[in-house]
Amino acid sequence: MPDKPNNVFNVGHSVPNLRDIIRQHSLRLETALSLDPGSARIEVQCLLQFVLQQNRAYLLSHPEDVLDAEQQARYAALFERRLNGEPIAYLLGEREFFGLNFKVTQATLIPRQDTELLVELALQRFPSPQPSTAQGGGSLYRVLDLGTGSGAVALSIAHARPDAVVTAADISNQALAVAGENAQRLNIGNVRLLCSDWFAELHHEHYDLIVANPPYIACDDAHLMQGDLRFEPRAALASGVDGLDDIRRIAAQAAAHLNDHGWLLLEHGHDQAARVRDLLRQSGFVDVFSARDLAGIERVSGGQVFSHTVCQHPPFPA
Ligand SMILES: C[S@@+](CC[C@H](N)C(=O)[O-])C[C@H]1O[C@@H](n2cnc3c(N)ncnc32)[C@H](O)[C@@H]1O
Repeated sequence: MPDKPNNVFNVGHSVPNLRDIIRQHSLRLETALSLDPGSARIEVQCLLQFVLQQNRAYLLSHPEDVLDAEQQARYAALFERRLNGEPIAYLLGEREFFGLNFKVTQATLIPRQDTELLVELALQRFPSPQPSTAQGGGSLYRVLDLGTGSGAVALSIAHARPDAVVTAADISNQALAVAGENAQRLNIGNVRLLCSDWFAELHHEHYDLIVANPPYIACDDAHLMQGDLRFEPRAALASGVDGLDDIRRIAAQAAAHLNDHGWLLLEHGHDQAARVRDLLRQSGFVDVFSARDLAGIERVSGGQVFSHTVCQHPPFPA
């Protein structure tokens, strides 16, 4: 059982300083959550930085400092929540993704480093910036991010390519509110937010590129009951018995919303690449491929649409 907040600091002994807290609490996190020692130490440091509103350099250069009573209470409450397994990103309220800091809440998935591959592949598909575009004369590259959550994918693309106009859609209004805050915090103006059940509200809109990191975990997968996943929105994670319900819907409908030569890129589970490639081909996509993450696992698949191929292969039924 985790400690109560009031004995996080071993009441009755002398008040520990920052060095003591980092040492003792790293060990406790390591044991309670099976973290490696480096990660446990960084997490305790992050919680202390958050409570003290100081950077890491301050923390490391003031090892003898002690927390005042109010800081102790706030830190103890956060530390206990972390001991209970709550993700550190929810406790801190933010997570870095593609070099940007995103606000996250329990209404949003915590952006994963794995998903940076989806952004990289998306950016590779952009045409080189045209001088006429920089002057406002050329046509803008239109991107759709389906299931935007905190906006991590859409805003990273929009930030990297101010010459794009990005639509960020999600079925969750709460997630969209967070994505909107992130757009404001990051001062990103070339993004439009839209509440939509996949393509339902997109009617006759067409895009040059559609990206999605949809839910793709099988609904009875034991991982849903483990680690960070226990605290994240189920609707952001699980998708039918084989995890592919949402990918099937997106693949079936995407071609009708792509301009000629447009691309669809989908993140998926570590063992789903072959099935996703099949779904893309059945839906009329060509040049279908899968890309590997840094661990060598196929985690993103995509395909391109040409108007003549869509005519020859009617979309897979939704
Ligand atoms: C795996 S999360 C991805 C969040 C974000 N794109 C990221 O990579 O961090 C999937 C997202 O899809 C959204 N979603 C689930 N079902 C949806 C649907 N039918 N239509 C639109 N969005 C949906 C969830 O609300 C969630 O934000």
